[in-house]
Amino acid sequence: MKFHFLTLFPEMILQGLHTSILGRAAEKNLIEINAVNIRDYTTNKHGKVDDYTYGGGAGMLMQAQPVYDAWKAITESHKIRTVYVTPQGRPFTQKAAKELAKEEELIFLCGHYEGIDERVLEEIVTDYISIGDYVLTGGELPAMVMTDAIARLVPGVLNNDISAETESFHNDLLEYPQYSRPEIWHDKKVPEVLLSGNHTKIAKWRLEQAKERTQRIRPDLYDKYRQKEQVIKQLSKKKRLHIHMIENLRRGKGEIHYANEDNILIYDADSEVYMLTAQKEDSAKSLLDHLPANANQCVVTQEFLYKTLNERLPAKQVQKCHLACYTKKIALPVKHKNIENLSVKHLDYLLSHSSERESYLLERLQKKELFGAFWEEQLIGFVGIHSEGSIGMLYVDETYRRLGIGASLESYAINLQQDRGETPFCFVVDGNEASMHLQEKLGLYMAESFVWWFF
Ligand code: ADE
Repeated sequence: MKFHFLTLFPEMILQGLHTSILGRAAEKNLIEINAVNIRDYTTNKHGKVDDYTYGGGAGMLMQAQPVYDAWKAITESHKIRTVYVTPQGRPFTQKAAKELAKEEELIFLCGHYEGIDERVLEEIVTDYISIGDYVLTGGELPAMVMTDAIARLVPGVLNNDISAETESFHNDLLEYPQYSRPEIWHDKKVPEVLLSGNHTKIAKWRLEQAKERTQRIRPDLYDKYRQKEQVIKQLSKKKRLHIHMIENLRRGKGEIHYANEDNILIYDADSEVYMLTAQKEDSAKSLLDHLPANANQCVVTQEFLYKTLNERLPAKQVQKCHLACYTKKIALPVKHKNIENLSVKHLDYLLSHSSERESYLLERLQKKELFGAFWEEQLIGFVGIHSEGSIGMLYVDETYRRLGIGASLESYAINLQQDRGETPFCFVVDGNEASMHLQEKLGLYMAESFVWWFF
């Protein structure tokens, strides 16, 4: 991922971001830092970039011309999302970091003095973001804070991907307390349970600690956590039919957009998918009132909901699907041993055997969520994990079918999700007998009724 900075102090950015973990990430070309000095672009012969404010007031303002020309030099060939770091912006959160991490490039515009001429902001800025309700002397530190939070989400930047997922703010809880050696320090002993070796007990203790801490320090977050738990409980009354929604919330992906005792609407920003379920037919209309008119993709759980939605937002494409999940505790055997993570060099193969868009496949590749089966070095099939969390995209070359390679690929993905502590699930389009057969063979359970995908 490439980060550009429009700044008057490029050395501050370069020194700050070429250190420690981000420094190593830059060496490995996982991220790139490009600090552009706005002063290099001024047409003023004395190198001036600021002037007095019209209408009076204290301090100087950065002028439009040098900012615009510096920005133009970066964006000459292609558009890039441009973030102005300012206390006047929307708050920066973990969710915002996740969303910005989807970009291939970002520009941070760092202000100084009393700010920047409004006219250039109107022309170049796509996002106004603040790191908190306090005022700093310039935009460099906030831009570096945001870069750190975004860059650590880029695959490969952290040593293990798990740590980006399990800490504070994942699942709306603050992190539990942690201890290292020695066992006793300043007469303080490490909690007994952590020495027990009992992983179930340890996980339970950590969750309790995280809940207690969150309730005490961040009651606002705790309320959100409680609401999510309540919704998961509600969905779990028909677990197989709602497994996609339960897992989406459990994995800390989706947000509850709307919920009451009959209706639930979840939005997963990663995949831009809305997931809806309703208990009663007469409440379908009120649930759909909460669905934004620009919703692009939805999964609905009841037929009456499907019909009402189709009246309101006639779909370009509808898929009636079975929902299958793997809830057994045991891992599945993977007979075909030669299965590996795919990379960009396999994109052409993926494109010729998948109906997914190129940008989507690239994003899945970047997230390391596509796996290929090889036969003597040759790629002969693949499986993937979709951005909303389901297993799918299964494909095996004609010549290599009926050798159990499809089963191995799906089992591989199932085992991987199980290792992450997730419940694997997939959607099977109604009428796809081969896939239904495979799900049964692998021991997945089918939901009692259909779900509908709307595009
Ligand atoms: N520039 C100055 N203060 C700031 C803040 N709190 N957030 C983002 N940019 C800033």
